[in-house]
Amino acid sequence: GAPVEVNISKVEPGQLIRVEWRGKPVWVVRRTDAVINELPTHDGKLRDPASVEMQQPDYATNPLRSIKPEYFIAVGICTHLGCSPTYLPDSFGEQVEGVTSGFFCPCHGSKFDMAGRVFQGVPAPLNLVIPPHQYVDDGTVIIG
Ligand code: FES
Repeated sequence: GAPVEVNISKVEPGQLIRVEWRGKPVWVVRRTDAVINELPTHDGKLRDPASVEMQQPDYATNPLRSIKPEYFIAVGICTHLGCSPTYLPDSFGEQVEGVTSGFFCPCHGSKFDMAGRVFQGVPAPLNLVIPPHQYVDDGTVIIG
């Protein structure tokens, strides 16, 4: 499949937009400062906090699993059996205490944080996949 160019200039803090790449849903989320600051506090609750499993390109092998802290880009497919998790920007604390936002998979209850890192004690074995991507300017990212 061809790379997909995405205009991210109008994405508001906290907003998620969906695009399709190679027939898969890809999310672009603009993370708030609060979300960015909270992410390091999750490490003890995660299965692979340092992203040792290569579910992302080398340039996204960092604590935020991204090129820019503000933007989280991931393939929106659960690593268990392929359902698409639901974005819970405000009510994720009902799933994992003390975690404000995240992704909940309705099929078998897997939970991921705002860097796509899987929480312990759920069926999904791996963090969400980060697709290859690059920024061409502040308002444009190319997926693929
Ligand atoms: Fe997501 Fe099973 S497919 S938890």
